[in-house]
Amino acid sequence: MAKTKVIAIANQKGGVGKSTSVYCIGAGLAMNGKKVLLLDVDPQGDLTKMLGQRKPHEMPLTLANVMNDIVAGVESGGHPEILHHAEGFDFVPANRSLSAVEVGLVNVMSRETVLQQYVDSVKRDYDYVLLDCRPSLGMLVINALSASDYVLIPVQADYLAAEDMTELIGTVQSIKRQINPKLKIGGVFLTMVNETNFRRDIVTSVKENFGKHLPVMNTVIPATVRLAEISTADKSIFLHDPKGRAADAYRNLVQEVMDIGEKQRIKSADLSR
Ligand SMILES: Nc1ncnc2c1ncn2[C@@H]1O[C@H](COP(=O)(O)OP(=O)(O)OP(=O)(O)O)[C@@H](O)[C@H]1O
Ligand SMILES: [Mg+2]
Repeated sequence: MAKTKVIAIANQKGGVGKSTSVYCIGAGLAMNGKKVLLLDVDPQGDLTKMLGQRKPHEMPLTLANVMNDIVAGVESGGHPEILHHAEGFDFVPANRSLSAVEVGLVNVMSRETVLQQYVDSVKRDYDYVLLDCRPSLGMLVINALSASDYVLIPVQADYLAAEDMTELIGTVQSIKRQINPKLKIGGVFLTMVNETNFRRDIVTSVKENFGKHLPVMNTVIPATVRLAEISTADKSIFLHDPKGRAADAYRNLVQEVMDIGEKQRIKSADLSR
């Protein structure tokens, strides 16, 4: 692959639509012909469950095993932990054994970059690697951000001004300074926008408030039961309700994700002529 983009979807606030967005963006990128790998970096295993593995805690081979192998210096060949999904992308599952890995990282050298080492070992086969983060700013999230080129931040409109955002941005900035200079905020996008918090000018006002400091994506994801349903439907929104407004919104978001970094790429291509 010419240049793999590694993207973490993070927000330490719980239940904002991170896992749902990883699934829908991943499926949408695959529909656009991209080679995609999704990593479940959350011991809850919610993404793993959404992808049809209903009992992640019984799975013998997950992200925890490969991270442990890296810590132990064991070379793993063949990558049997990578599973294929019917919608055309690959994924690595997670379960609660990842919690023990997170706790154990405290005593490990290069503890922030264990996941980066794993991502580097598999990313050459993919156009996009998406990382589903757990709702915290702990060591697993630090590992995910250290492994990424971009972070996408889903937020609920009502919580935009919350201190959580400041804390998350601060973490991104310090990881950029100390561990991963290429890390950028790919964009903030609004999720679960319903009739009560929807205003026609919501993106404009978010851009006015945050746009100076943060790239705000144009797509707004609506609050709809059709999206809540996909966690048990074994289908992304593109198969579950392809004509609905949630599928339209995620289609637009996927396009925006594919546009991330393109301006810089065109600029540097121009310079190299
Ligand atoms: N746009 C939406 N409209 C309605 N329900 C949604 C939407 N997006 C996600 N949901 C539902 O909201 C709940 C939380 O979504 P999800 O699990 O994607 O969030 P999360 O940020 O990954 O949560 P956690 O922080 O626990 O990992 C789930 O039940 C999901 O089905
Ligand atoms: Mg989640």
